[in-house]
Amino acid sequence: MILITGAAGYIGSHTALKFLEKNNDIVVFDNLENGHIETVETLKTLGDVYFIKGDLKNKSDIDKVFKQYKIDTVLHFAAYALVEESVKNPKKYYQNNVVGTLNLLNTMIENNVKKIVFSSTCATYGEPKYLPIDENHTQNPVNPYGQTKLTVEKILKDYDRAYNLKSIILRYFNVAGCDEKIRIGEWHNPETHLIPNILKSTVQDDYVFNIYGTDYDTPDGTCIRDYVNVNDLAEAHFLAYKYLEQNNVSDIFNLGTENGQSVKEIFEACQKVLNKKIPVKLRERRDGDPAKLYANSEKAKTILKWNPAHTIEDSIKTAYEWEKNFKA
Ligand SMILES: NC(=O)c1ccc[n+]([C@@H]2O[C@H](COP(=O)([O-])OP(=O)(O)OC[C@H]3O[C@@H](n4cnc5c(N)ncnc54)[C@H](O)[C@@H]3O)[C@@H](O)[C@H]2O)c1
Repeated sequence: MILITGAAGYIGSHTALKFLEKNNDIVVFDNLENGHIETVETLKTLGDVYFIKGDLKNKSDIDKVFKQYKIDTVLHFAAYALVEESVKNPKKYYQNNVVGTLNLLNTMIENNVKKIVFSSTCATYGEPKYLPIDENHTQNPVNPYGQTKLTVEKILKDYDRAYNLKSIILRYFNVAGCDEKIRIGEWHNPETHLIPNILKSTVQDDYVFNIYGTDYDTPDGTCIRDYVNVNDLAEAHFLAYKYLEQNNVSDIFNLGTENGQSVKEIFEACQKVLNKKIPVKLRERRDGDPAKLYANSEKAKTILKWNPAHTIEDSIKTAYEWEKNFKA
């Protein structure tokens, strides 16, 4: 059985859906702090899903899961992921993302479960020294959120050496879009991600989208990021899981499209897809936003045979349908 932590959340639920489509039974573990019971209920209609409400910060909660189910592999999404909040409240982030993960890893070892796929992030790289960013780029996070993820990466390396726990670390760039059938979607509160925030102003009268910074060293002055579709990301998890099963080796992969797009380009793509003018305000830069971040994902393409197939228009269309139908 596959255990998916954080599968009531955005990326975890899309990955759970992918595993259900490939006829796997899954155990979902989530404290529902930022995830949604409605998402779990939807997953339950699509396959064999066993849901345990529990918190990784309480080791006994996760111990119970391994006693109740025969877990072979863990996909670990559960974490806090708001950069700004992590700067204001690092304690909360280290406690959850590091201590919570340690509880999980220790329980795995105690139960002789030695395979994990871990959600890491491009935020572990910090300010880019070169582009596109490959897996060998130095890691120097500029906020506590990134530090917590890098800390877990280091723990995984040590746990492999000492306890033979094998991990695939997936460093995502900016994740976007929703399930093509709009059964589940991106449902963060607060929502800090670009595309849902642009789209919010089309369904919410009092909402105006802000572009922070128009004087960056980029062709149109706005920040450039790499927007990877959540369904492609889910597929990458399935490929990583298979790779781990077949080879039993630890490895690290960037997951991005390798194609940086600016905030203005995404904004214009949203207007085009929706065929609507979207209100916007231009604001000063915020602290700590690098001008450009985009991935080199050749390694995932070559080794995992990952073939991201969705366009930015796919991400915008599905995100809009989700926003309109479910969150308005
Ligand atoms: N969304 C992105 O663009 C992005 C980019 C890079 C990395 N990531 C990483 O991917 C993972 C998933 O991100 P997301 O956007 O789906 O976040 P999310 O908040 O939608 O999902 C996280 C889920 O984990 C659960 N959770 C958190 N702490 C928990 C705990 N202690 N015990 C049990 N459940 C807990 C939450 O309730 C939530 O359902 C995170 O680890 C995040 O750091 C996300």
